[in-house]
Amino acid sequence: MRYILGIETSCDETAAAVLEGRRVCASIVASQVDLHAQWGGVVPEAAARQHVERLNPILQQALDEAGVGWTDIDGIAVTNRPGLVGALVVGLAAAKALAFALNRPYVGVHHLEGHLYSAFLETPDAPIPFPHLALIVSGGHTELVLARGHGDYLLLGQTLDDAVGEAFDKTARLLRLGYPGGPQIDQRARLGDPTAFRFPRAKVEGWNFSYSGLKTAVRREVERLEADDALDEATVNHLCAAFQQAALEPLIHHALDAAHALGVDTLTVVGGVAANSALQAQMRAACQQAGLTLFIPPPRYCTDNAAMIALAGYFRLRAGQCDDYDLDAYANAPLAHRQSDTSTAPNA
Ligand SMILES: Nc1ncnc2c1ncn2[C@@H]1O[C@H](COP(=O)(O)OP(=O)(O)OP(=O)(O)O)[C@@H](O)[C@H]1O
Ligand SMILES: [Mg+2]
Repeated sequence: MRYILGIETSCDETAAAVLEGRRVCASIVASQVDLHAQWGGVVPEAAARQHVERLNPILQQALDEAGVGWTDIDGIAVTNRPGLVGALVVGLAAAKALAFALNRPYVGVHHLEGHLYSAFLETPDAPIPFPHLALIVSGGHTELVLARGHGDYLLLGQTLDDAVGEAFDKTARLLRLGYPGGPQIDQRARLGDPTAFRFPRAKVEGWNFSYSGLKTAVRREVERLEADDALDEATVNHLCAAFQQAALEPLIHHALDAAHALGVDTLTVVGGVAANSALQAQMRAACQQAGLTLFIPPPRYCTDNAAMIALAGYFRLRAGQCDDYDLDAYANAPLAHRQSDTSTAPNA
């Protein structure tokens, strides 16, 4: 199992990658962000159409950059859940066609399992440290997961309403900062004072998260400022800084608390929001103080990419696993379940 081809089309990024073992030879990501910006969010039908147009050239580009031919590919990994079904089936159909034509095994990969492995794309020579805690913070998910081994995941906590990335995007839209909002808020927050406004930190049971109260609190503040004609650029910066701090604190607090309670010494932060500069700085400081080893992927592997899908698939293919041609795409699918005994989780 030398060369693995990864394919990712679950949302608005058309991506292909080639790994040699665990080492990334090529990772190509064609973002559709400019297309969807006009609508302020991802339009599923438009996303699927763009995947159809772009996937073949992107696959060829990945192979060319890796310097390999089609027959060099030993196995294929493709995201088949969760995501936009119309978008997922484009990648899945391509993976099945290639697997059939090349007579190679292929596996369907859970998108969040890909994010989970993204933390280890930069350390191909070191063993994956199990157990470890994974804080998955993306546009559609906010989950705290205990990874006990390959494919063995336990859900410790998750958002009860909005995902944290969604909260960044909705707040940015409210402040008319454009789409996607996460990077904009990150930049504006550096110019603002996080103590200029005090937004609520959600009180939820266990290691769960909630962002709807924060979203409403920011909206009310913005409406009040607009009524007073006081929403100037400096105030927007302060709002970004205060929102960001309120959004990040529960993530850091729960992750460190869970690591301490479970006696786990390694933590990963993955998904698009892991690219946030304040989250990275605060998590690094907190982990250093707590004596935890922290893995955060570089920004290009925080957001959607196919290298992470290929790495998740690599371990399955290497273990001899392979999916049938009747494999489906699913809009919703949990990565991990909770253990029936949740006595380790604290009550807020
Ligand atoms: N620097 C940043 N600060 C905060 N948020 C960010 C930053 N960069 C990206 N994001 C957010 O990350 C999200 C995109 O991440 P990702 O591509 O992992 O999500 P997704 O694939 O759409 O969702 P999921 O993985 O849950 O299906 C967006 O919500 C975006 O605003
Ligand atoms: Mg993602």
